[in-house]
Amino acid sequence: GIRIGILTSGGDAQGMNAAVRAVVRSAISVGAEVYAIYEGYQGMIDGGDGIRKFGWDDVGSILNRGGTVIGTFRSKEMREREGRLKAVRHLLHRGIDRLVVIGGDGSLTGLNLLRNEWSGLVAELVERGDLAPEVAEQHPSLMIAGLVGSIDNDLVGSDMTIGADTALHRIVDAIDDLASTAASHQRSFVVEVMGRHCGYLALMSAVAGGADYVLVPEQPPAPGWEDEMCAELRKGRESGRRDSIVIIAEGATDREGNPIRAEYVRKVLAERLNEDARVTILGHVQRGGKPSAYDRWASTWLGYSAVHEVLTATPESEGMVVGTRSNRSERLSLVKAVADTQHVPELIEAGQYHEAMRMRGGSFLE
Ligand code: F6P
Repeated sequence: GIRIGILTSGGDAQGMNAAVRAVVRSAISVGAEVYAIYEGYQGMIDGGDGIRKFGWDDVGSILNRGGTVIGTFRSKEMREREGRLKAVRHLLHRGIDRLVVIGGDGSLTGLNLLRNEWSGLVAELVERGDLAPEVAEQHPSLMIAGLVGSIDNDLVGSDMTIGADTALHRIVDAIDDLASTAASHQRSFVVEVMGRHCGYLALMSAVAGGADYVLVPEQPPAPGWEDEMCAELRKGRESGRRDSIVIIAEGATDREGNPIRAEYVRKVLAERLNEDARVTILGHVQRGGKPSAYDRWASTWLGYSAVHEVLTATPESEGMVVGTRSNRSERLSLVKAVADTQHVPELIEAGQYHEAMRMRGGSFLE
């Protein structure tokens, strides 16, 4: 029969469980067997209990849970050929030659690399006597499907990644909470949000939370921005606003590429506006909590689509990611999506801010 492995890799994200559940149940519905690989790629390398056959009920009651119940890990061993040899051996001993991976661009690149190297790794295992030649013959290639799981929403080509919507809700709730204490004291708050090199969470939460000023990596502020920011906040105060909020993406830099720190922004506000200012770094609460309705239903149909992809992929077809575009699921070339994603920092460095923003904004900004 057909055997599919499923794993989650990289930073956890709300909605990963919904995707795992959909993959397991969609696969079972069409008569395939599904194996959950625990702790990301590490479970493949370790074998044993790290790879477990899943039935319908094994994914019961996880739809509404944050994180990933099958664990995740940023595996160093997987970056070495020896690690990948172990992984292929453990997969093929169970007859698994189809993989669905939910993770960020690094995890998806690793998946494609494994696919490209598959026949070479299989041949080497046979040569070493670690794999029976008839097993190798039955599984000449690896079929893959990627899903993008990351709160950062940083994969170019996909409008949304699994977890981004929930993280955005968490941030907007926090901004609402901070606004009341800020207003009571007429204080300014600098709120640092996650996103790694991507400004999606910062920009969208600034709009949704009604912030006064936002700093994002895609549009490094021009020299003298401190004056502009203070002028904006002063205007707000003069018009009777009691709370001031500045959102800063953790990856924000100036035009030279030097990081802009939340504490620096706080000091500027305190000194130039002569008022009390505080920093709140939201940190990992953004990755926690129950997935939003969007992250549940979108991840469910993405999981379903990933099963279709991994069942219809052929050794000749290109490795694909299933993402979203204009509210539809869309198949994207894995190699192109990753290359475009990695191209954005170069655009920013070259001063092409508009183009960087357009690529990260997806169909929304086109
Ligand atoms: O990629 C998700 C993310 O939460 C980023 O926003 C953040 O920069 C990073 O992971 C934090 O990594 P860690 O969980 O390893 O501290």
